[in-house]
Amino acid sequence: MIHILEQQDSPTSVYISQIRDKEIQKDSMRFRTNITRIGQALAMEIGKTLNYKTIETTTPLGIAKSRVISDQIVIASILRAAIPMHQGFLNIFDNAENAFLSEYRSYNPDNTFEIKFEYMSSPSINGKTLIIADPMLATGQSIVTAINGLLQNGTPQKIHIASIIASKQGIEHIETNTQGLNIEIWTAALDPILNAHGYIVPGLGDAGDLCFGQKL
Ligand code: URA
Repeated sequence: MIHILEQQDSPTSVYISQIRDKEIQKDSMRFRTNITRIGQALAMEIGKTLNYKTIETTTPLGIAKSRVISDQIVIASILRAAIPMHQGFLNIFDNAENAFLSEYRSYNPDNTFEIKFEYMSSPSINGKTLIIADPMLATGQSIVTAINGLLQNGTPQKIHIASIIASKQGIEHIETNTQGLNIEIWTAALDPILNAHGYIVPGLGDAGDLCFGQKL
């Protein structure tokens, strides 16, 4: 199942418009802030689908019944572009556990690439709700690699994949390569084209560079 936030007008559409705009992108602080804000919006939507339980809260004047999240959440992010998005999720799910993975594209002489996965820091995900944040869901390969890595630490009861901009191809790749897992995909925007270099078009460019500056 795929959920696309932009299908419904909300302030999230304004943030998406700003992160795509090549003039506004020059303000990297605004770019990171908007990625965080979209992360928060995605977290709020995912939050509506979680399990809740009733607790009693003691106020200064009496007892109130409240609803609180009963799922144990692990937020997993792929370095480095997901860092501001990760913070957005933590702003909403403040008791979540956290996992980080390092992945990068290793380019061949013919400009094709493979995803290299080198490092993972993750708690057990057994029986938990796993949210994987990746701002640009382009080919889908890095998400599938991340899921395979994280599954070494247990079997989650549910996996949510959250992106800012996704390509149709990337979503198809995930759906084909994660069969049998309980997965839902959330994206703020869905774009039609994945170009020959694995970049989303119109997309926004390189999200990691726009957050943190160009790398060598
Ligand atoms: N990573 C990015 O930052 N942008 C894309 O378009 C694809 C992958």
